Amino acid sequence: MKHEAFDQFVPFPGISEHIYSARDFAAVRELVYEVSANVLPPNKSTLVYSRLAPLVRNSGLGTFSAYIGKLKADPAERHKAVCALTTNHTAFFREDHHFDHFLETTRPDLLRKLAAKQSVRLWSAGSSSGEEVFSLCMTLLGPDKLEARRLLTSDLAVLASDLADHVLVKARKAVYDADALAPVPPNLRALWVKEDGKGGGTIADPIRELVRFRSLNLMGPWPMKKPFDAIFCRNVMIYFDQQTKDDLVARFADQLIPGGYLYIGHSERVSGPAAARLELVGKTIYRKIR
Ligand SMILES: C[S@@+](CC[C@H](N)C(=O)[O-])C[C@H]1O[C@@H](n2cnc3c(N)ncnc32)[C@H](O)[C@@H]1O
Repeated sequence: MKHEAFDQFVPFPGISEHIYSARDFAAVRELVYEVSANVLPPNKSTLVYSRLAPLVRNSGLGTFSAYIGKLKADPAERHKAVCALTTNHTAFFREDHHFDHFLETTRPDLLRKLAAKQSVRLWSAGSSSGEEVFSLCMTLLGPDKLEARRLLTSDLAVLASDLADHVLVKARKAVYDADALAPVPPNLRALWVKEDGKGGGTIADPIRELVRFRSLNLMGPWPMKKPFDAIFCRNVMIYFDQQTKDDLVARFADQLIPGGYLYIGHSERVSGPAAARLELVGKTIYRKIR
């Protein structure tokens, strides 16, 4: 990782350099990059302080420097700290043009495959707290109960993965408040949300049972053997440097069936050697050519 100058480092107001220093921020930054490839720019020094201060306190070590020593020696604590530093913002039907494309273009092919008893595999990579994958499942299964029942008994598998444990806990619970559920189209909501009577609700059991939520660091090995028909990896690569993005996109291309789709975030682009294997077919939507 290139080290930017630390002249932008803003010491946390009122915190002694003895407790948290520019050197500590640099060490955390290095460690987070090594584990997760997330690049923390210098203006995140305050965020690092506020997210890690509770962990430093719990450890009883008193200073960031001592806590960083623990992080280097203790993989479980390191994982906890890296999880605490992830950005998990997400929403139901976020970037809804992807779901329009999936409904109009991808879904009909997938339905034909399922009807022909072929397998269909979908992956939300960097799923955060589940809103993305549940939006995808609702779009695939649709508002018709009978059709959905047929699809649910076919060879359909949906994976949702994230590095951060706390978002996976929330995703598995699948309980959302009224604001979170507001973007869900009413016809899909009627079938796929168990209302709590206060505007919020829980995702219906058939979808919860369909999705396998897994802890997975995209920088590590991927245990999945079978290829995917579509991969959603949106607003994850923005935190990576260019080489990491290029390598990751190449791995996604390997993991897609020919003709499979890769959906990425609105500010992201496919680049690097894999660009030759993925054609742009819509706004931030790519189709694997070979
Ligand atoms: C901003 S959220 C995006 C959620 C969702 N895809 C969306 O667009 O709404 C980014 C997610 O990527 C996850 N993430 C970051 N680095 C990761 C890595 N190396 N491996 C797996 N997940 C990672 C974070 O934990 C976070 O939940």
